[in-house]
Amino acid sequence: MVVHNGIIENHEPLCEQLRERGYTFVTQTDTEVIAHLAHWEQRQQGGALFEVMQRVVGALRGAYGTVIMDIRDPSMLVAARSGSPLVIGRGIGENFLASDQLALLPVTRRFMFLEEGEIAEITRRTVRVWDQAGESVERPEIESQVKYDAGDKGLYRHYMQKEIFEQPQAIKNTLEGRFSHGEITLSELGDGADALLRQVQHVQIIACGTSYHSAMVSRYWFEAMAGVPCDVEIASEFRYRKPAMRPGSLLITLSQSGETADTLAALRLTKKALGYLGSLAICNVAGSSLVRESDMVLMTRAGTEIGVASTKAFTTQLTVLLMLVARIGHLRGMDQEIEEDIVHALQTLPSRIEQMLSLDKPIETLAEGFSDKHHALFLGRGDLYPIAMEGALKLKEISYIHAEAYAAGELKHGPLALIDADMPVIVIAPNNELLEKLKSNIEEVRARGGLLYVFAEQDAGFTASENMKIIPLPRVEQIVAPIFYTVPMQLLAYHISLIKGTDVDQPRNLAKSVTVE
Ligand code: AGP
Repeated sequence: MVVHNGIIENHEPLCEQLRERGYTFVTQTDTEVIAHLAHWEQRQQGGALFEVMQRVVGALRGAYGTVIMDIRDPSMLVAARSGSPLVIGRGIGENFLASDQLALLPVTRRFMFLEEGEIAEITRRTVRVWDQAGESVERPEIESQVKYDAGDKGLYRHYMQKEIFEQPQAIKNTLEGRFSHGEITLSELGDGADALLRQVQHVQIIACGTSYHSAMVSRYWFEAMAGVPCDVEIASEFRYRKPAMRPGSLLITLSQSGETADTLAALRLTKKALGYLGSLAICNVAGSSLVRESDMVLMTRAGTEIGVASTKAFTTQLTVLLMLVARIGHLRGMDQEIEEDIVHALQTLPSRIEQMLSLDKPIETLAEGFSDKHHALFLGRGDLYPIAMEGALKLKEISYIHAEAYAAGELKHGPLALIDADMPVIVIAPNNELLEKLKSNIEEVRARGGLLYVFAEQDAGFTASENMKIIPLPRVEQIVAPIFYTVPMQLLAYHISLIKGTDVDQPRNLAKSVTVE
């Protein structure tokens, strides 16, 4: 019997080989080759099940975690880790295997993490591990620090809704203990961190999906406030090109799960490349592969996120990134006033988000206008452009409405051709130095009969009209506007998805953590 998470890339030639040996395949899955291969190896050379697994794994290519059991001896499981995560949960008179500690938290808090290429044999009472070279190794047992607070939706209909409403508390947790005398400290980075961060001349951030969007926001912050050049790249692109090294570059990886295959692969790749000052992971899951393999770590402390659509993980990532910008800026001589503004804005953020959440009802009403729409356009400028991207991602992910985001200044270079009365255009319009520019972009849409939904601060000077709805929002400190304006985007996607009757927490075709390519 086989359990398999991941991809066996060479399953076709293996299938061919096994067919020639007389095996009949009854499924279309790559998983089936593991079962036949194990059977073949056992018949040919015999040996203990872990030895069979060692030979099977030698023939497999790809990223996977797998477990096999000989049905004649169901008291023993043998697991192999290659590219995908695998954890062993220790119990009393029982042991468990899973790809994520979260799945096992209801039954145990004691874990052993398999390293790359390792094989483990588990019975009810014993665990034995062999490394890639076939040597027997001891793996330490770790008490999980992950708080299991996600089991119950409480009064909420969905985990996503619960997680949106948890954001004020999640951000409070993220901020806790990270200030001292009006200064951001981040002392958990360790003793040598300040000396290292002082040398940073360039920041390279790598992430996927929603985490990539938070990285995009921080690029504006790193350059404008800390004066540090910053590049941001999607992990699946970064890992397959040959990036040129910048002097004094710090590598930051961003991930809710810490198990995203592409982000991990990019981290491992850069470890081989000379020249990075070090790697810093910003992550929500303690004990994850990304956390274990990085030189420095900042935990987002969002609490367990169950909904596939990431919400509180995103806003807490932004919170941590802003603190990091302040810390690096501080060490490199940033204007003290800017740091004070950041500290003040962060401290007010939880209550600002509370205020925003009180707009749930009006946003629910607004969502009704979208139920028959097939497309939507999201516009923003500056550090709100990535929030438009995040708004579009949330909408397509859970409502299956096709949505795209554009930097508003880019409209006239193509997307204006899409504008008609059937295309809702969502505009993120904070009261910042780009507001007047944004108003001109809004005019371009209005003049072409587009249907506008403008999320703007009360005093931003917009007047509603038949094809322009204004959603008045409370005032916010501009530094944290990207975090603040994320919330109505999440609520809008959530309510549209409810109306459309889609599966909010488990959208079709998606997984919470993408542990394979
Ligand atoms: C977010 O709503 C998505 N489900 C997805 O884009 C996610 O952010 C991405 O897969 C990256 O995951 P990570 O943060 O766990 O690395």
